[in-house]
Amino acid sequence: MRIELSGAAPADEKADLLAIGCAEDTLDDNAIVNAFDTATAGFLRAAIRDERFLGKSGQTLVFATHGKVAPGRIALVGLGKRAAINLPALRSFAARAARLATSAGAKRLALLPPLGFLGPQPEQRALCERLSEGLVLGCYRFDKYLSEDKRKPVSLKEVSLLVGPGFDPDLASAVVRGEQLGAAVCRARDLINEPGAAMTPTRMAEVAKSIATEHGLGCQILGPTECRAQNMGLFLAVAQGSIEEPRFIHLSWKPNAPKKRILLVGKGVTFDSGGLSLKPNDGMLDMKTDMSGAAAVLSAMAVIAQEKLSVEVHALAACTENMPSGSAYRLGDVLRSKAGKTVEINNTDAEGRLTLADAITYGLELEPDEIFDFATLTGACIVALGPHIAGVMSNNDALAGAWLAAAKAAGEEMWRLPLPDRLMDMLKSDVADMKNTGERWGGALTAGLFLREFVGETPWVHVDLAGPSTADKESAEFSKGGTGFGVATVIEYLRRIASA
Ligand code: BES
Ligand code: MN
Ligand code: ZN
Repeated sequence: MRIELSGAAPADEKADLLAIGCAEDTLDDNAIVNAFDTATAGFLRAAIRDERFLGKSGQTLVFATHGKVAPGRIALVGLGKRAAINLPALRSFAARAARLATSAGAKRLALLPPLGFLGPQPEQRALCERLSEGLVLGCYRFDKYLSEDKRKPVSLKEVSLLVGPGFDPDLASAVVRGEQLGAAVCRARDLINEPGAAMTPTRMAEVAKSIATEHGLGCQILGPTECRAQNMGLFLAVAQGSIEEPRFIHLSWKPNAPKKRILLVGKGVTFDSGGLSLKPNDGMLDMKTDMSGAAAVLSAMAVIAQEKLSVEVHALAACTENMPSGSAYRLGDVLRSKAGKTVEINNTDAEGRLTLADAITYGLELEPDEIFDFATLTGACIVALGPHIAGVMSNNDALAGAWLAAAKAAGEEMWRLPLPDRLMDMLKSDVADMKNTGERWGGALTAGLFLREFVGETPWVHVDLAGPSTADKESAEFSKGGTGFGVATVIEYLRRIASA
């Protein structure tokens, strides 16, 4: 799919489908709709009435023009109330348009953002970026395991963004940025959607290596021997039940004169059976996705390099399976972490925090200014916030605020949860410094508290993305399965640091 900018008038754009973004409250006097209505002898307004198209967010109407204007079909895409239209909504608009074009078998699509939204230069850049990102996301497929005849290939070849006559040709670089971000999110989705048997720790390391080679990143891979030398007792205990060897991945981006040094840690459990605390079938069904955090941080590194952000960034992923077997770690085992703290295991299904703790300790040796971890850590977080919103926990209010602001701008829903000191009691052990699991209530918080014990004084944000890491149905920019959640906010946050 090629995305280009066009200054053509919408009625002259030779597209198979022209998608027009429509605000709900201004639909009745939308000048573009009126122009097309006149050109089609009043049939467009008639269709709007007949189909009860109101311009509500997500509502769509496809209308064949029968040669009256250059575009073969017009798709009206509702964007909701005008005042509520923001950049994430425009990304959804582009993704919906891409889906409509695909189901119509269109090869050429033209996108007309809502009238009057095109403001001054910086806003135009942001608009083109988001539209391009949305187009890429709306065309995402994971169909490599389907027989040829069962695939629904993307028909789109060319998309024009109608940005009005006399547009600044420099906007083309904004299109490229949007495409790059979209591609990174799609890469994360691919990693998540691969079956556990394919996306093993070894395979994750190979992918990380190829990202590093492609984008000129530093890359270090630690196998079991190196991890033992690093005293990663928690990570290795989780790994010991699997015949798949663990891999500890470290990607780095080190520009000249960086503004800050940032550590990103992603949970990389390639399959979480629960271990000896075995999950029931339904709980295990989706557990190939338990490496979504790792997928996000590794994919984000590609964009960081492409944009040459002046921030030093290290991405870590301790990749392993969590399996039950004769060699699996046991309940009651006492493990020694890389940090030296001992941990008594009272549930082998709370494995994510163990792998993250050793990764954080490894990362602290790099002396980062800030730490961010991304993990499908607890079902309790989904109970608390539902399936679409990530839980954010932090030891630093200012950092949490800056992070949530970036998430909002990136269009990823996140909500802060507390880290109540009182609940530390739940992690007290009689035989070790800590247990790995608290009691039933507040499970997302005790997981966060466990991690806090390993970050020390370094400003840190923990993102529990157990809910939003996957989608159970298709919608605008999401397809069923892995979402690539986290990539967009990481990039938005780092851009803000780089340009501060
Ligand atoms: N990977 C799971 C968390 C999870 C659950 C992610 C559902 C996505 C969807 C994690 O390793 C886990 O098993 N957590 C346990 C913790 C409990 C044993 C304290 C959980 O949430 O039940
Ligand atoms: Mn688990
Ligand atoms: Zn897990």
